[in-house]
Amino acid sequence: MAESLKPPTPPRLSRTVESRVAIRSHPLHPMLVVFPIAFLATVAPADLLFLWSGLAFWAQLSLFMSAAGLALGVVAAAAGTVDLLLIRVVRRHVSAWSHALAAVMLLAFAAANTWLRWPDPAAAVWPWGLLLSVPMAALVGIAGWLGGGLSFHHGIGVAGHEGAEDRGPDVPPEP
Ligand code: HEM
Repeated sequence: MAESLKPPTPPRLSRTVESRVAIRSHPLHPMLVVFPIAFLATVAPADLLFLWSGLAFWAQLSLFMSAAGLALGVVAAAAGTVDLLLIRVVRRHVSAWSHALAAVMLLAFAAANTWLRWPDPAAAVWPWGLLLSVPMAALVGIAGWLGGGLSFHHGIGVAGHEGAEDRGPDVPPEP
């Protein structure tokens, strides 16, 4: 059949699955993750600014951001873990487990950063503080990227098609 005579392929809807930790279908995990992402991504630039300027302010900021990022990261991780454990379709995604692993590693780096810097923030920056904050920034990117894939590619946490969890991988739209 000539290409132009083929019946048009109906657009396909991706299935979506609602978060179990949500307020009126607005999932809490995406609302909470902005804080650890912003806080923990700031530590490496603050370390570099301290090494460049010598101002103690930047070293103190690194400690504050590590501790605040850790605290809010634990809260965000709790919401994400509930979805991972309660929603069968989430557990079936390898990227959900990769995301969780990257997130736990990120929180371990945040804990190590806080512990190292607590007694003397300025003395801790070189070299060990920087050796922890640079991979931590990379982990923010990896965990965030994988988490974004769960939401934007797999529709996890997205309210939309009722009962989608029980249907096939991709379903054509209702007529
Ligand atoms: C063990 C800990 C974690 C688990 C099990 C987990 C699980 C999940 C799940 C299931 C989703 C899909 C959306 C939803 O269900 O609400 C998600 C999305 C996401 N997660 Fe996590 N998460 C964890 C920790 C974190 C942390 C610490 C961060 C921050 C660095 C993070 C960043 C993200 C991002 C950016 C998204 C996409 C959200 C969006 O739509 O904007 N996650 N995570």
